Amino acid sequence: MQILLTGIAGFIGSHLATRLQARGDSIIGIDNFDETLYPAALHQRNLGTLDGLSRIEFSRLDFLDAEATEKILSSHRFDVVVHLGALAGVRPSIAQPLRYARVNVEGTVLLLEACRRHNVKRFVFASSSSVYGSHCQVPFCESDPALRPASPYAASKRAGELFCSNFSDLYGIATTALRFFTVYGPRQRPEMAIHKFADLICAQKPLPVFGDGQSARDYTYITDIVDGLIAAIDHTVGDKPRVYNLGGSRTTTLSHLVELLEESLHQRAILDRQPDQPGDVPITYADVSLSGRELGYAPKVPIETGIKLFCEWFLDQRKK
Ligand SMILES: NC(=O)c1ccc[n+]([C@@H]2O[C@H](COP(=O)([O-])OP(=O)(O)OC[C@H]3O[C@@H](n4cnc5c(N)ncnc54)[C@H](O)[C@@H]3O)[C@@H](O)[C@H]2O)c1
Repeated sequence: MQILLTGIAGFIGSHLATRLQARGDSIIGIDNFDETLYPAALHQRNLGTLDGLSRIEFSRLDFLDAEATEKILSSHRFDVVVHLGALAGVRPSIAQPLRYARVNVEGTVLLLEACRRHNVKRFVFASSSSVYGSHCQVPFCESDPALRPASPYAASKRAGELFCSNFSDLYGIATTALRFFTVYGPRQRPEMAIHKFADLICAQKPLPVFGDGQSARDYTYITDIVDGLIAAIDHTVGDKPRVYNLGGSRTTTLSHLVELLEESLHQRAILDRQPDQPGDVPITYADVSLSGRELGYAPKVPIETGIKLFCEWFLDQRKK
């Protein structure tokens, strides 16, 4: 298969590229090393994990650059576009909604448009559990209308999903939006809770615990997310728009997460209790019965194992 992968130098993108390459797909990866969340050197490191792998062609470009994106689409015949490139992160989006809308909404429409012009029949879109907000029933189910996302980031992902649906209905592109539930594992973005907490515990600095520590998240280990992505890439779905949850389908409280990290890092955390943050939701919890039925998705890595694996990688990095 020939695949255009946006966000290849990101956390999830670099893991997906490794797996696609290993099974013989040909990948054109694009990324602009966006520094909103972490420095270019870490994007470079993520990409460096692909060094020595054949069948990956990388271009450093911004997909908002319509001309450059058009050139890539017109010079290849892609079977599928996998759109992981985005500005991620709930909290930073609150300070810059317009920028998030540009990159995440306009960028997605620009790529969908390019697919339409160049007859690309499949589009897989990275959406987020944040689209459910705090007003949906748990476990979160794809049939929920998800009309009150709690942050500009969440709204931008919901808008991206709606454009995917639109392009399926109007132009026959088979689109699949995957709602990822907090993904973690080696190379996780440094500003995300697990990675940030590990940094603070090891530096013996105060770890901010928002609320009473009982807020709960459905954490998904990176290999489970990659399994779900591959299943969505391979799934023949016709041109009906699809939306699937990809989660661990189990919740972990913030307090328990800190305990698991303390255990694997062999250090105690210094807790700094703080009020709830705007944009945060009290719980995320995925109902994965639809993705199980239609994609064969079944999360395999429990949080106890996943945190151990993450911490092994984390401690190893610190030695370098
Ligand atoms: N990590 C999670 O827990 C999680 C949860 C839900 C959804 N997602 C979504 O999954 C996708 C990947 O997330 P991640 O955690 O790997 O984030 P990441 O920031 O590590 O990866 C995103 C990549 O997109 C690139 N990018 C951003 N704007 C770009 C542009 N204009 N042109 C080209 N490249 C651009 C960035 O440089 C980065 O390498 C994102 O769409 C994110 O919103 C992630």
